[in-house]
Order: sequence, then structure tokens, then C-alpha cells
Amino acid sequence: MTADIALPKDWDRSGLPGWAYFSQELFELECETLFKTHWQFVCHVNEAAEIGAYVTFDVAGERALVIRGHDGILRGFHNLCRHRGSRIVPDARGVCNKAMVCPYHGWAYNLDGGLRGIANRDTFPPMQAEKWGLKPLEMEIWNGLVFIRFQAGPQPAVAEILARFDDEIAPYDLANMVPTDSNSMDDLLAVNWKSVRDVDNEGYHVRQAHPGLHQLYGDGYFDEPYANGTSRSVGTFNEAYGHRWSVRKYREILPEADHLPLHQRRQWIYFGMFPNFVLGLYPDSVIYYQEVPQSATQT
Ligand code: FES
Repeated sequence: MTADIALPKDWDRSGLPGWAYFSQELFELECETLFKTHWQFVCHVNEAAEIGAYVTFDVAGERALVIRGHDGILRGFHNLCRHRGSRIVPDARGVCNKAMVCPYHGWAYNLDGGLRGIANRDTFPPMQAEKWGLKPLEMEIWNGLVFIRFQAGPQPAVAEILARFDDEIAPYDLANMVPTDSNSMDDLLAVNWKSVRDVDNEGYHVRQAHPGLHQLYGDGYFDEPYANGTSRSVGTFNEAYGHRWSVRKYREILPEADHLPLHQRRQWIYFGMFPNFVLGLYPDSVIYYQEVPQSATQT
């Protein structure tokens, strides 16, 4: 802990009661009051870089779709056909050529969401096409990261929430990063989403659960207390540690990262945004992860 970070005197570390990790009622409340109304991360802009490329995201019974139009603009929509509510694009990610075509009855939408065509149109009453486009979603691109929100909520813009990290993040040039081949790891965990978040919020688990990582940092790791829905944890390499081969080799192959300030060249930094998003900055790469609840007991 750095000297300038004081923990509140009445800091309660007793945690939530056990039922909070199983309750269907609480899960439904969380879906309504957290996951539908708080910013949810969907992808990096360069994961949908080409015209027609899309990424989908589901949470809390809602379905989102982010797609790049012919004009090069990325837009967010409900992944919901205006006819009978089918998914418009079925996969986690992919590319549509000229249009999005609903797999159910074949309604077609332009890449900007406008209704393009209706199969057997003469069997429908007269319709104003401009009223039947895909429903847009609130979307924000922050440093190349794409966030959507299903309903307006209490949070300000992502840029405002994370503003206190701007100076530290700027040298990584996030907006121009490109995804690696192994950019997605969708593990289904048989636990409530808060179980995962609780563990991750506490670096206390690192020594036992990640011995290699612990050797990289030594005791040079700390979690700042949550502040205004954001968190920051930093691990500074401890050069005195590291007899494991993986730690030694990592240090050997790590590039100098001279685009970063000196102290950040040997740090892993994690920024969290309530309720479920984490961005990890490494000297040579950047990662993100988030817990997406599937039920009260699956994440
Ligand atoms: S549900 Fe999409 S065309 Fe019928």
C-alpha cells in the first residue's frame, strides 16, 4: 500500500451473506439494476475493423450487436429482428457482406440498421420502412474500446468514469492496438458472477493461486480501494525474485517498451469499472475481461 492511500476507518471486510451468491431473486434484480443500466464492454474497434464486421454481446436477457457500416462507422443495435424478434446475426462475431439478413424469414437490414427489404412484401400491409429499422443502442467508444448500454442508467459516460486514469493509459495508444489470434476465452464457470469479481478484486489471492505471478511482483503488488465505481491494482516487478523459469524467460523476452514512462515498463496495471469490467495493461500488450452472468450460479 502506498503512503498516500488511506483506508476508511470503518472499512467493512465481512463481505456479502452466502445467499447473495445463489439467490434467483437477487440475480434478477442485478440484471435489471446493474447489467441493463451500466456500461458493458463489447469489443475493441479493431475486432470489427472491416466493413460489415460485427461482434455480438448478450447479458441479462438482452442481445447487442455492434457492426461497421459501409461508411466506416461502428454502430450498436439490439440484435433483434423487428419482425418476430429473431437474432439478426447468429454468431459471436463475423462479417455480413451487403446486408444483415434475418435467418428466420429473411428480412434484410442495411449495415447502418435501416430496413432494406421484406420477403413477400405484398403479403404485408403498407409499411414505412424507416420505422422498422433495427433498434439502436447507446454506444460509446473510449480509447478504442466499445461499450454499450441497454438502458440509460445512473452512470456518466465511460470517459468520465475512467477519467482519473487518462494520463496513465495514454502512452499505451489503446485505440490503435490490434487483436491477437487468441483474443477470446469464453469459460463457463459454475459460480455466481460476484464470486469471480470478489476474487479478482483482491490481489490477496495471487501468492497462493498464481505462484509465478507472485514471483514476478514479489510483494510489489497492491489494490487501491474502490473509488467512484473504479479500481486500480498495480504489480511492480521485483527484480530480486524470479527463480522460476517462466518468470526468468518472461523478463528476458519482454521488449523494452520505450513508448512507456520508465516506471510503467516494468508494471502490470489493472483498472476496473463497476460492475464487471477490467482492463489490464502490460508492457507488451493489453487485455480485458469481464464477468457475464448466465444465471444466479453460472458465469
Ligand atoms: S423474425 Fe426476422 S424475418 Fe421474421
